[in-house]
Amino acid sequence: MKHEFWDERWRQGQIGFHLGQPHDWLVAAERRFPAGSRVYVPLCGKTVDLVWLRDRGHEVIGCEFVASAVQDFLKEQGLSAQTERLGAGGASYECHRTPGLSLLQGDALHLDPTLVGGTVDVIFDRAALVALDPACRERYVECLHRMLRPGGHILLISFAYDQSRVAGPPWSVTAETIGKLFGDRFSIETLAIRAEEGNPRFQDAGVAEMEERCCWLTRKD
Ligand SMILES: C[S@@+](CC[C@H](N)C(=O)[O-])C[C@H]1O[C@@H](n2cnc3c(N)ncnc32)[C@H](O)[C@@H]1O
Repeated sequence: MKHEFWDERWRQGQIGFHLGQPHDWLVAAERRFPAGSRVYVPLCGKTVDLVWLRDRGHEVIGCEFVASAVQDFLKEQGLSAQTERLGAGGASYECHRTPGLSLLQGDALHLDPTLVGGTVDVIFDRAALVALDPACRERYVECLHRMLRPGGHILLISFAYDQSRVAGPPWSVTAETIGKLFGDRFSIETLAIRAEEGNPRFQDAGVAEMEERCCWLTRKD
């Protein structure tokens, strides 16, 4: 989806995706992360998962393109950051650095490891792949692949539902789609699946439940 769409969602406070506590599946799976990992959190919004991961001893890099979301995050977490500009053109970011946690304001689809001091050990995607227009998926997966070191992992939390009833975001990402997008270059382990209540817009469209899925992907090469 376009920047203006998300800007408007944040401006209107339509951020039902935001959780006030760390995601339970992140808490359960974090023991799989190598100690002191570099962790990248794409399309991070103002998630408290960022500080939770930092407090577990990881070096965290978040990326979010809505400036007010980034400012809300820093304010709500009481963080005072040093800010610098990185990159150029479409791949240009305002980088807010705090000890153990850097937040990049800019488009995650352009991010390159050279801008953040190299590849990362783990990527945590919760409601990020599903937030992107399906036409951008392959580009996004390409970006995740180049951000991740060989042997590194992606903890992916996604949703699937009957896409014929209502359009995203969140867009439906089925197990089959995950296989098509990642299967060639990642091994895929399903960690958990559960039913989630759909939001009111989805309920009205006849989508009472969505399937929430948690996968652990490992880069093969
Ligand atoms: C569904 S929210 C999920 C936020 C977060 N992962 C969480 O769990 O709370 C998706 C977020 O991605 C941001 N976003 C969408 N497209 C983006 C892009 N191309 N680059 C950076 N941020 C993006 C939106 O502004 C929004 O805050």
